[in-house]
Amino acid sequence: MNRDDVIRLLGKSWDEFGRLVAGSLHSDIELLEQVNASLIANSGKQLRPMLLLLIAGALGEANSDTSRYAAAVEMLHNATLMHDDVADRSSTRRGQPTLCALMGPSAAVLVGDFWLSKAMAHVVDSKHRDGAIKLFSNTLSQLAEGEMLQLQKAEWADTTEEDYLRIIYCKTASLFETACRVGALSVDADQRLCEAAGHYGRALGMAFQIRDDIFDYTEGSEIGKPVGLDLKEHKITLPLLGALRGYSDQGAIRAMVRDITSHPEYCTQLRDFVISNGGIEYATSRLEFFVSKAIEELDAFAPTAHKDMLNAIAKYNAIRTK
Ligand code: IPE
Ligand code: IPE
Ligand code: MG
Ligand code: MG
Repeated sequence: MNRDDVIRLLGKSWDEFGRLVAGSLHSDIELLEQVNASLIANSGKQLRPMLLLLIAGALGEANSDTSRYAAAVEMLHNATLMHDDVADRSSTRRGQPTLCALMGPSAAVLVGDFWLSKAMAHVVDSKHRDGAIKLFSNTLSQLAEGEMLQLQKAEWADTTEEDYLRIIYCKTASLFETACRVGALSVDADQRLCEAAGHYGRALGMAFQIRDDIFDYTEGSEIGKPVGLDLKEHKITLPLLGALRGYSDQGAIRAMVRDITSHPEYCTQLRDFVISNGGIEYATSRLEFFVSKAIEELDAFAPTAHKDMLNAIAKYNAIRTK
């Protein structure tokens, strides 16, 4: 997948999305204005608004609601990242120090809140607001629930694969699902197509987070954020769960995760355990399952260049390196 090709295909709706994001974040508080400008200048992959606009283009004609929802989804995503870097004590993102590392947790929480409230203002101003508010607020609750379940599981290091799938649905795939659903909603697509769009986004979001969790075990990757952080935060993700499958002394490994703060040497030992026990291969096979599932959902769509691009993005996720 080539990002420039996607942007070219999206045309005006992509420009409008960018204008809405930048135009809605102004404040007369100079410090906030400065922080917002630097966050906008260092934006990420902007994958969620891309999916949203592609879905709308595949199912109808993108309109002002479509661009508003694209802006809302990306702004909400950025807000959750600012909060996430506080929760995860993470030092870098997109190759730069996190806002939390630069200005402390208070600023990161407050700027995240500002972006979140401006995201919601876009939704409230839209014509399909009733349906869209329900989808966005549902995702926001799921995000918080997913993060809380992750914390609860980190305490005991007792995460099962079922718990893991629930956590990643809530914290990541739910927003992908909402992005795709509101894209379909904005062009008044049939119920059946809205469902297919939601299922596509959900499966892609699951694959996306599994890929992110594999990166956490990959030294020297180009993702622009620290690796090895999940274990340090006592998080058991799919690569470790894969390595634990059929392993006789699960209790000992889980105890190492629980005790990792007082035994930093366990980080390398657990990483070696994951790699030599097929954890990466297992997680990759599950990722491929979700990618195939996403692609199958597109069968419901009529053939268009937008559909082809959605297909290519699903495949790109299986091989992406950042
Ligand atoms: C990071 O998302 C958070 C996860 C769900 C893994 P992205 O990888 O989409 O972040 P940016 O916006 O491109 O930096
Ligand atoms: C991603 O959480 C989902 C969010 C709620 C932001 P992670 O903690 O796994 O994502 P990264 O690795 O920091 O981007
Ligand atoms: Mg996190
Ligand atoms: Mg994080």
